[in-house]
Amino acid sequence: MEYQLSPSILAADFSNLGEEITKVERAGARWLHIDIMDGQFVPSISMGIPVISSIRKRTDLFFDVHIMALDPTALIEDFAKAGADLITVHVEACPNLDRTLRLIREKGCKVGVAINPATSVHVLENVLEIVDMVLIMTVNPGFGGQAYIPYCANKVRQIREMAKERNLTLDIEVDGGINKNTIQEVVDAGANIIVAGSAVFQGDVDANVKELKGIMER
Ligand code: DX5
Ligand code: ZN
Repeated sequence: MEYQLSPSILAADFSNLGEEITKVERAGARWLHIDIMDGQFVPSISMGIPVISSIRKRTDLFFDVHIMALDPTALIEDFAKAGADLITVHVEACPNLDRTLRLIREKGCKVGVAINPATSVHVLENVLEIVDMVLIMTVNPGFGGQAYIPYCANKVRQIREMAKERNLTLDIEVDGGINKNTIQEVVDAGANIIVAGSAVFQGDVDANVKELKGIMER
């Protein structure tokens, strides 16, 4: 299985965003996690299309776009054009989930589907074959720097089991509260794409990326 660390730029210094991205790239990250928050699905507002298009010009990192918005379906085409490589939408925000997931594929992006901590993995039973990645939120979405919710590891395990039973090579991403103390537990449960915001951008970015990658890959 391929393991990737996906640094979340929500925790970066926005006045110095380009430099921050160069730092994670130099340290060996291949993915970049970009959180889109609309102030409605989640309480805060983060960033939008202009930020993605401008950083797209600067880096070839794989853009892992996580949409936390009330109407993610309406935003997909614009994010695809701005340079997203993978777009993840929340089950909780998609009444016509199948249609939304197919739209992401049609626009040329990899397809991700996310569930909040309180949402059961069973809602994903029918769509596992049409997605590339499942994102198991390990905090309630909305802010960086929150504490990891331990029961979510069990959901990672359940999705990994479901994928194995069906012979699917599915990526499983975890997002929220992942740091050097919590990463091992989610990797053991079957996650292979690890988002980290504050654990990457607080302190020495180069050392943080290397330490987290080291734990994932051993
Ligand atoms: C939370 C966001 C996360 C956030 C993670 O709603 O989806 O991607 O940036 O931040 P940390 O790693 O600090 O919990
Ligand atoms: Zn996220």
